[in-house]
Amino acid sequence: MKRKTSKARQASRRAVRREGKRVAVIGTGYVGLVTGTCLAEIGHHVICVDRNPDKVKKLQKGISPIYEPGLEPLIKKNLKAKRLEFTGDLPAAVKASDILFIAVNTPPRPDGKPDLSHVAHVARQIAESAENYKVVVDKSTVPVQTGQKVKETLKAYNPHRLDFDVVSNPEFLREGSAVMDFLKPDRVVVGVENERAAQVMRELYRPIRAPFIVTDINSAELIKHASNSFLAAKISFINAVAEICERTGADIAEVARGMGLDERIGPHFLRAGIGYGGSCFPKDVSAFIAIAEELGSPFDLLKAVQRINDDARQRFIKKIEEALWVVKGKTIGVWGLAFKPNTDDMRNAPSITIMEYLLSEEARVRAYDPQATEKAREILGGKVEYVDTPYAAVKDADALIIVTEWEEFQKANLKKVHSLLRQPLIIDGRNLYDPAEMKRLGFIYRAVGRPR
Ligand code: UDX
Ligand code: UDX
Repeated sequence: MKRKTSKARQASRRAVRREGKRVAVIGTGYVGLVTGTCLAEIGHHVICVDRNPDKVKKLQKGISPIYEPGLEPLIKKNLKAKRLEFTGDLPAAVKASDILFIAVNTPPRPDGKPDLSHVAHVARQIAESAENYKVVVDKSTVPVQTGQKVKETLKAYNPHRLDFDVVSNPEFLREGSAVMDFLKPDRVVVGVENERAAQVMRELYRPIRAPFIVTDINSAELIKHASNSFLAAKISFINAVAEICERTGADIAEVARGMGLDERIGPHFLRAGIGYGGSCFPKDVSAFIAIAEELGSPFDLLKAVQRINDDARQRFIKKIEEALWVVKGKTIGVWGLAFKPNTDDMRNAPSITIMEYLLSEEARVRAYDPQATEKAREILGGKVEYVDTPYAAVKDADALIIVTEWEEFQKANLKKVHSLLRQPLIIDGRNLYDPAEMKRLGFIYRAVGRPR
């Protein structure tokens, strides 16, 4: 029986490869590029569109403009197989495709709401370029009821009075494992208004083995904001407990382990540290707070989540101050700049707050990150010395500060680190090491919510 099922699945994959859908993905950022490439990988013909000509040129040569494990080989493979194309010509891509993904950025505005101008602009361009029925899929993270606005825009700027279906298909791609998250997701969520659109999406995702959830558009949009806000709440929860651990001598690692073994809680997203960063959680929590407020249902819980997250960064800075006494003139080695490991993304990285503090205190900062140096330089400028190895960062430094938990740091030669540091002080924002072992090695080790 099992064999038959897998044979049937293979046949269905072959069929999709043969009959692959014609898809355009507009916006080739962290989300659009992974989405487009992976849709090509599962057999569709995909045109990725971006208004940035430099990005398009690089991609046409098979060079990924971002660091995302496993992505570049898939781009190259699917370019070669002619299932993947890159262009700046949006109207042509729209005309050539049946399913159009909107995957442009939705950055936060000063009032916390996301800026939807790119989504609106692309929807309008689609309406003006289309010549027949299209399924327009929103992949960008947007507030509930945006689908309705996209639909109104498509209708308003539609010279040929064409028929469109609007779909919400939120992304759940973690940077650093986005390719696997796309190809082996926990679930695929599509919000639709009718069975016709649901069927198109079902066929598009047929090769992906995962629960396929069909909802109305508003619910799909809410699933995204609610999921990310819930995960952010888990992180803030554990960070608040970590503070209590510090005040009582309890160990957050043990507390999180004991909590996480309860299936109803689960072990994930219970790592205490310097709080969440990145392009999604901070923006999505702010957006959800703003939407709830606007709808007349203030979400006070999320305001606390946000406050605890800001506090986590500030508490870490306080730890640095306490451990170093005077920061001015000291040499500080910093390990990790990206907002999380396995990415070069610096958007809303906790490292920015920490580095700005160190620089404002006139410390000499020597930083190492395996991938994010270039992007960090754009943000932090030339005042930081960037080095090529973790050991160069700690040589003759008065302290090592750990900001991102790259695997390379977990495996570092700590004896060597000890011998290179001028003072064996490590202030660890990611709880990489066992405090007892660090003590044995002769370090003064300050972590988050762990016994001294
Ligand atoms: C995505 C989402 O879509 C966002 O809603 C989600 O919350 C996070 O992930 P991301 O892929 O990170 O955004 O954005 P970014 O890396 O900035 O890429 C956006 C791309 O869209 C850029 O390459 C930009 O040039 C392109 N773009 C933007 C267009 O091609 N046309 C536009 O009108 C606007
Ligand atoms: C997130 C969502 O997880 C993903 O589904 C998608 O919607 C995009 O946004 P991403 O921001 O790439 O993914 O990374 P994620 O692994 O969720 O981490 C977000 C932040 O939380 C990072 O700064 C990370 O360091 C922090 N984090 C995560 C913790 O501080 N503790 C944890 O236990 C887990």
